[in-house]
This record gives sequence, structure tokens and C-alpha cells, in this order.
Amino acid sequence: MKITDAVLLEIKDSVALITIENPPVNALSHNVRFGVKKAIELVMADESVSSIVIYCSGRTFCAGADIKEFGAPMQEPVHSQLHDLMDSVNKPIIAGIHGTALGGGLELALSCHYRVAISTAKLGLPEVQLGILPGAGGTQRLPRLVGPKKALDMVVSGMPIGAKEALDYGLIDKLVDSDLLAAVMLFAREKGVSNNDHIRVRDRDEKLRLVEQSIFSDARKVISRRARGFTAPEYNIRCIEAAVHKPFDEGISIESDLVMELMKGDQARAQQYFFFAERQASKIEGLSKGTKHRPIFKVGVIGGGLMGGGISMNMANVNIPVTMIETSEKALEQGLKTIRNNYESTASKGRISFDIAKQRYELIKGSLDLGDLNDCDLIIEAVFEEMSVKKDIFSRLDSILKQDAILASNTSALNLNEIASATTRPQSVIGLHFFSPANVMKLLEVVRGEKTSDDVIATCMSFAKRINKVPVLVGVCPGFVGNRILHYRQIQANQLALEGVPIEQIDRVLYEFGFPMGPFQMGDLAGLDLGWKADSSNSSDIRDRLCELGRFGQKSGNGFYDYEGRMPIHSDIVSEVIKDCGRLQGIERRDSSDNEILDRCLLPMINEGAKILEEGIASRASDIDVVYVYGYGWPRYRGGPMHYANCLGLKKVIAKLQHYRENTGDDFWTPCQFLVDLADSQSLFT
Ligand code: 3HC
Repeated sequence: MKITDAVLLEIKDSVALITIENPPVNALSHNVRFGVKKAIELVMADESVSSIVIYCSGRTFCAGADIKEFGAPMQEPVHSQLHDLMDSVNKPIIAGIHGTALGGGLELALSCHYRVAISTAKLGLPEVQLGILPGAGGTQRLPRLVGPKKALDMVVSGMPIGAKEALDYGLIDKLVDSDLLAAVMLFAREKGVSNNDHIRVRDRDEKLRLVEQSIFSDARKVISRRARGFTAPEYNIRCIEAAVHKPFDEGISIESDLVMELMKGDQARAQQYFFFAERQASKIEGLSKGTKHRPIFKVGVIGGGLMGGGISMNMANVNIPVTMIETSEKALEQGLKTIRNNYESTASKGRISFDIAKQRYELIKGSLDLGDLNDCDLIIEAVFEEMSVKKDIFSRLDSILKQDAILASNTSALNLNEIASATTRPQSVIGLHFFSPANVMKLLEVVRGEKTSDDVIATCMSFAKRINKVPVLVGVCPGFVGNRILHYRQIQANQLALEGVPIEQIDRVLYEFGFPMGPFQMGDLAGLDLGWKADSSNSSDIRDRLCELGRFGQKSGNGFYDYEGRMPIHSDIVSEVIKDCGRLQGIERRDSSDNEILDRCLLPMINEGAKILEEGIASRASDIDVVYVYGYGWPRYRGGPMHYANCLGLKKVIAKLQHYRENTGDDFWTPCQFLVDLADSQSLFT
């Protein structure tokens, strides 16, 4: 029987089977909540039914509340009304779990008396990643099954666990390897006729009594390191504390108050916006769904330095063989050694086994001969940023590579169209801009040249996901999206320093905003000598002067800062250098407030982001935000620069830009026309 367009009810041999059909991920939209509640009400009083199964069709169990419904008042029945009803049913209710049971989906399963899962299933409460907490009883029921310590781990990290681990912790009652539906129906039939009490999860308090109080302070220590600035993790901890110290109903009431408070906050709004921004980024407008993908079985990487090595590891990590090219035996040996050390270090930290580390390492073969790339499907060039060198390599590759091979450059700033012109197949040339360290950073700027073909773009966007990257498609311009915008922040950070603002203050303000580090510490980490040439060094430029002194950043032990290990320490030498550069440039010294520092660093980023949209270099404002959160550490709880601008209000952004324009007389601050037009039409960045 169809209860709603998303819920079916069938009675099979005394078991009521409620099937949710709400593709793609069976989110608990209103028609699902309504349908499940109605179905339960129908069978509660039916004496021919002895047990109830909740099952989902399609690729997964429920992935949680329907996030698209957030922001408007939730239509009844709300999740808790459904769960209260389930708690009042005197027949066993069993969830059959496959795919992922996440958030409200797992909470639905927690309100069942039993859970049967297939061995590939994953279960988790990822609400913290959306800036909220599991507000449908999850924080009160989960610790009753898995114990408060494991529950804390799960809600604070938001990471799901596998079905086997779930069984070990008592989160599920039975694990099956195949035919979940048949297994859960059989399980339900047995429970339906057994004389056992079917204890509700809310009544199972035994694991709550075995708690060491230090788990809460330990969890707080962890979040102060890993989730600095985020509000939701602390609220999740408070709910688990409530589960331990308060009766169930009081815990539920605390959970409900705290989730409402979080829901109203800016962080939840930003994190939920970002959830969709990330998914939107992989969609390419104008590309037909039927676009064929080129197969990629083997990858070639040219350059075995830090970048080339990191790129190669991405492939090996997902079992793709790599040929890595270097120009000398020594460089090749060094490159391979670094990769091996990286894998061994990961294995010694217990993150992968030594066997897996070895398997991965062995997938990377070194060579000194470009000719060895003749069987590769994708070649990624990662040599130093010199146009003539890149063009030479690309023209040589032309005669070596298979006809349908994709030629990618990892350039971070050079003109991809010019690189492509060195080949007879510019349609097969694309930019794949990895971020350093390439085996760690999630962002991949996929750079579309003016002749890059649609199938090459489609292949690279999906290949990026295969190697666990978050791809964003961008157009050709100096620095593409990320570095181009960053350049404008750096201009102001330098200007502030030249005016006499201590670099420590500038770094602190940006750190407190939520970046992992400020611009000067970031410069030291990246290396100040990148692109620096001694013969054209300028004595009034801060970075050039530091390089002249051999202060190249962390790698040389000093840069903008001196270093004790990785700890930055103030340097009087640097203060003097900056003062001298300011004097040589005729810059008047003045103080700046923290607010001014923040405005002067962030507003130019927004203005440049608007120009990028105006020029069509990025297709959506949210793509720029994805670049910034994944590539540059913009705090996710602030959504990204364009979302931040929307929150400030575009008229306010323009007013601030104009204020600096008037104060300085510098065109740098002129608001871009696109931004002005958006604000005039009361629109926002989209
Ligand atoms: N609500 C609405 N839409 C959702 C959704 C949700 N909970 N979860 C996924 N979707 C949508 C995605 O936006 C995407 O839509 P699109 O095709 O239009 O872009 C589509 O479903 C497929 O999602 P993915 O591209 O992410 O597919 P994957 O197969 O890579 O991943 C997934 C599937 C693991 C389920 C992943 O989508 C996911 O992690 N979803 C979110 C899970 C989550 O955070 N749940 C908690 C929600 S809040 C909650 O439950 C509150 C509760 O306490 C009351």
C-alpha cells in the first residue's frame, strides 16, 4: 500500500514492512516522516502484525533530515514526534540498514528496538559538520548503546563507523553479508514471536553508569585543537554530558534547546550553505550528461620534487599505477625516497599497514625517459614554473603519448593556453592545479583552457573525485581563482606592515578570524624564495630583502619570523627591514585597529572574487568559496569569502571599499562594477 509518494507499507507473514523510497539518499523529508508515522499508526493496532521493519530502497538507508527543509519551520510530524510514537509501540521495530545511516537516519534506527545491517553499511551522526547536533534524540540514545566515550567520538568528529565496528560497540544487533531484506524480515519474524521484552533504547542505561568523567575534558582538549572556532562541537559534548547526568526526557529537552540555538546561528547557516556549495562545484554547466569520459588506468607525472611526489601518491593511494619522470638519477632517487619515507611514516603512525604502504609505494615507478609515458592515459607535468621549460616538455610529449591521452599541467599561475599551443592537441590539454602538500590538500583547481574539450573536462572532474579531491572548474587568468584572490590580500598585508603594523598583529587578526595562520606565517611555510631572482631583487620590497638575507622561510630556519622548531618568534632584524622598506617607499607610519586589519585584508578578496565572476573565470560564487575553504583554510563556519560578503551585506561591502578608496585615493579600492550592480539590484552572490 502506498502511504505517501515516498513510503510503502506491506504486510508479509505477520511482519509490517515499511519501505522508504525518497531518492537519491532517502532524506527524511516531510512526506517520509508523515508516511512512516502513518504506516506505524496503521499497524500498531493490527493484531495480525507482530513486528515492524523499516527499510529503504535504492542505494542507501536514510542520509538524515532533508537539509533543504532547514531554514523554514519544520512541518509536522517533526522527527521527535515520530520517535515518540515509535517509543510507544508495543511490537518490536527493526531497522534494516544498508549504505549509510546518517544523522536523522541513524536516529530513526536508534528509535527502533533492533538494528540489522549489511557488512558494507556505515553509521554516523555527522550533524556537527553542518554546525548543529543530532537533535532527534541521537545524543541521548547513541551513548546508551555504544557508551558515552564512543558516542562523544562519533558526534564530535561526525565521522561514521563501519558496520563491523558498530556491531562490536552494540550499535547494531546483527550483521549480514548479503540479502539484507530477507535477513531483516526473518529477524523481525523471530522477534515478533519471541517472548522476550523488547527494551527501548531510551530505557537502556547500563552503559551510562560506566563513565570516567575525564572523557569530557579530553574531548574538549581535542576540539580546542582540531575544531578551533567552531561552536557545534562543544554543544555536542554538552548533550552527551546531559545523557550521562540527566534522565532521558531531561536530556532530550536539553538537546532540543541546544539544537534550536545552533540552528539560529551564523555558523550553522554557513556550514549548511557549504554542504551544497561543495556538491554544486562538481556540476559543470553546459556540459551534456552524455559526455563520454576517457578511461584512465595509468598516470604519468613529470617531476619528482615535493609536488610531483605528492601528486603521484594521490594515484597510488587509490591503486592507480604511476610512472614518475625526473631528469637525473640523483633527483629521481631523492623523489622516490621521499615518497617511501612518507608512506613509512604514515604506517608507523598506524594509519595504514606496512603492507599497504609497500603496495602503494611499489605502484610508483621512476624513469629518466619521457618515452616511458607512452602507455599513460593522463600525464601531469609538475616541473618548476618556467614557461619555456613547460612548452618544451609539452611539445616533446606530443610525439610520445597515446592519441587520447590527457596532458595536464600543474602550473599555479602560468598561461595554460600558451602551454597548450606547444602541442598539436590543445583540446587534450588541461590544468590540474594541486595544492601543497599535494597528497594532503583536498582542493584541485581544474583549469579549462580555451580549447580544452568537454570530454577532457568531464574526465578530469570525475577523476579528481576518484583520487579523493574536491575539484573546482576555473578559467585561465594569472593565479587562477585561489592565488589571484590571495594576491590581493597579500598586497594589503604588506601595506599594513609597511605602515608599521607589526606582522604579529596582522597574523593574529587573521588567525582569530579562523584561518589556520596569518599571511606572513603562511609565506614562511610556502617559502619566500618561490619565484625570487637575486639579479632582479628590489631593495625596497620586504620579501626580496629577506631573501637577500637568506631568510627563505621555515625551511631555512627563518623568514618573516625566526623559528624554534615550528614555533615563530619575533625578529628585530625583520622589523628593521620592514621599517626600512617603508621608509624607502615613502610610506607614512600609523597604527591600525584589528577591525581595520581584517577589513583591509578581506575586502580586496571579495572585490577580486566579484571580478572573477564578472569575467566568468569561476562559474559560481560558491565555487570560489569551495576553493577558499579547501585550498586556503578559510574557516568553513564562515562559508567562504563570497558567502561572508553576502552575510555582511553587499551594500556594506561597497561602503567599506569606498571608505578606503576615499581615505587613500587609491583605485585599488574601487568596487567592481559587477558587485555594484548586484548590490543595486538587491541581489546576492550566487
Ligand atoms: N538532505 C538533502 N539532500 C541531501 C542530503 C540530505 N541529508 N544528503 C545528500 N543530499 C543530496 C546531495 O545534495 C546530492 O544532491 P545533488 O545530486 O542534487 O547534488 C545528492 O543527495 C547525493 O549526495 P552526494 O553527492 O553527497 O552523494 P554521495 O553518494 O557522495 O554521498 C551521502 C551520499 C554520504 C549520504 C552524503 O550525501 C552525505 O553525507 N549526506 C549528508 C548526511 C548528513 O549530513 N546527514 C545529517 C543531516 S542533518 C540531520 O539529520 C538532523 C537530524 O539530527 C534531525
